[in-house]
Amino acid sequence: MARTINVGTLISGGGTNLQAIIDSAGGSTNPKIDAKILFTGSDTPGVKGLDRAKKAGIDTFVVDYAGIIQSCKQGIEQGALPPDFDMGDILEKQQLVTHDSSSAVSKNRIEFFLKSRAIAEKKLLDHMLSYKIDLLVLAGFMRVLTPYFIDRLNTVPGQYRIMNIHPALLPSFPGTDGYGDTFRYGCKIGGCTVHFIDYGEDTGPIIGQKAFEIETGDTLDDVKRKGLEKEWELYPACIQKFAESF
Ligand code: GRF
Repeated sequence: MARTINVGTLISGGGTNLQAIIDSAGGSTNPKIDAKILFTGSDTPGVKGLDRAKKAGIDTFVVDYAGIIQSCKQGIEQGALPPDFDMGDILEKQQLVTHDSSSAVSKNRIEFFLKSRAIAEKKLLDHMLSYKIDLLVLAGFMRVLTPYFIDRLNTVPGQYRIMNIHPALLPSFPGTDGYGDTFRYGCKIGGCTVHFIDYGEDTGPIIGQKAFEIETGDTLDDVKRKGLEKEWELYPACIQKFAESF
């Protein structure tokens, strides 16, 4: 047994991965992993994953990303940005969007993206502040995180503290539709990957992977079902691996 690590979770939707982690952590009865979930945050109000957390007695909060981005489109006042927001630093580090330095439109778009996300990320951080977590687990959190947020969790160089699950065998098929991309490519093997978050999209060090066969006649729904079943095994196992190395 490892020391029990304190985990925070972020979700965007149904939360079946969150449920698998809750079930493995097991509350006080029969835990299979050395992890305690302290909170579940969501970027979207009203999602089923929040109910799963509440049912398990876990604190929840919502940062309404869509609402924040919408209101940023009306204009972003300097005072709305986090006081420690440093555009130069973030632009230099981020690997989420490519920057065409000859295009003012591209520069404005990227800066809007980074500013609006940092405003939302500061709200996430404010909610998380009162919890002392060892690891943040993204369990179907469908937002990229910018260096503004990442640097405030990864405070020790070389020590990653944010984990994500991706629905494909990385480095193949990064992006938002891993199972769809795997299926449409005609792959005979699909899979899922748990990795640490770095400054790129789905590029951080891989912690674990699981694969499954895609048989003739399988539909996209079959691929998603097979994939999710693997995810529910893989994610708790990777959290345990982290706990044992902590
Ligand atoms: C999973 O397929 C995960 O890999 C992806 O989003 C989905 C979330 O499912 N990032 P759930 O909310 O855990 O049910």
